[in-house]
Amino acid sequence: MAADVPTPTGCRVDLTGQVALVTGASRGIGRAIAERLASCGASVAAVARSADGLQETIGAIRAAGGTAEAFAGSVASSEEVNRIVGEVEAKFEKVHVLVNNAGITRDGLMLRMEDEAFREVLETNLLGAFYFTRAVGALMMRQRYGRIVNISSVAGLMGNPGQANYSASKAGLIGFTRTVARELASRNITVNAVAPGFVETDMTGVLPDKIKEAVKEHVPMKKFGQVEDIADLVCYLSGPGARYLTGQVVAVDGGMTA
Ligand SMILES: NC(=O)c1ccc[n+]([C@@H]2O[C@H](COP(=O)([O-])OP(=O)(O)OC[C@H]3O[C@@H](n4cnc5c(N)ncnc54)[C@H](O)[C@@H]3O)[C@@H](O)[C@H]2O)c1
Repeated sequence: MAADVPTPTGCRVDLTGQVALVTGASRGIGRAIAERLASCGASVAAVARSADGLQETIGAIRAAGGTAEAFAGSVASSEEVNRIVGEVEAKFEKVHVLVNNAGITRDGLMLRMEDEAFREVLETNLLGAFYFTRAVGALMMRQRYGRIVNISSVAGLMGNPGQANYSASKAGLIGFTRTVARELASRNITVNAVAPGFVETDMTGVLPDKIKEAVKEHVPMKKFGQVEDIADLVCYLSGPGARYLTGQVVAVDGGMTA
């Protein structure tokens, strides 16, 4: 029997007057998060490696009546991150929501993995989140308010053959989330992690069909997630309703880690 489930129509989180900084906002999950937060009223500072790549995200948000600006730079460079956060502050004055979403994969079996493949993934996925959280966390401390959401992965919870570098970075992000949540809690700043399962984006689009079908077999819901499934939860965690929720890791994975 087909389930009679209403189509999502967007959440009702009110972010009017707030500023949200989203990394890796040029496509995939980051773009969906940026658009969702903007649709809830936030002005969005969208970050990606190139401004060109951000034009579609910015265009879509503005076309829908929202506010968004592009900030280009690599999350893997602390100098570039500090520069971007300075530019965002100059433009918007405050940052209420930080979503550390930018991430990469460089898959391969551990015994054959080159130093550079391990290092590059750690630098983008883990150090990038640290650089942004340190810089934006200082602003949030002064504001006595903030919502930080780190995009981890089920690979960081379960491990995944071929992803020693990626799963280490995503597991690291979970330890980072729990510690920073404790450090910033008294300033009304919450820090949580979302661990997506297999979501249809460019990142997973490159996998061979055989692998995709094998993964699907391990998902109790027998289907992949959509970017909106992640954006919905990030939006909730970014809003006022999640005020007593911090240091948590929420898997959005169709039951994979249940
Ligand atoms: N797609 C999935 O199934 C899945 C599952 C679990 C977790 N995730 C995580 O969700 C996040 C988004 O994944 P996606 O599938 O949308 O990926 P994607 O490859 O489609 O997009 C990644 C984004 O990160 C940006 N980015 C990468 N390196 C960067 C850098 N050094 N500086 C600035 N921006 C950079 C890219 O420009 C792009 O905007 C990643 O952290 C990923 O690890 C994805």
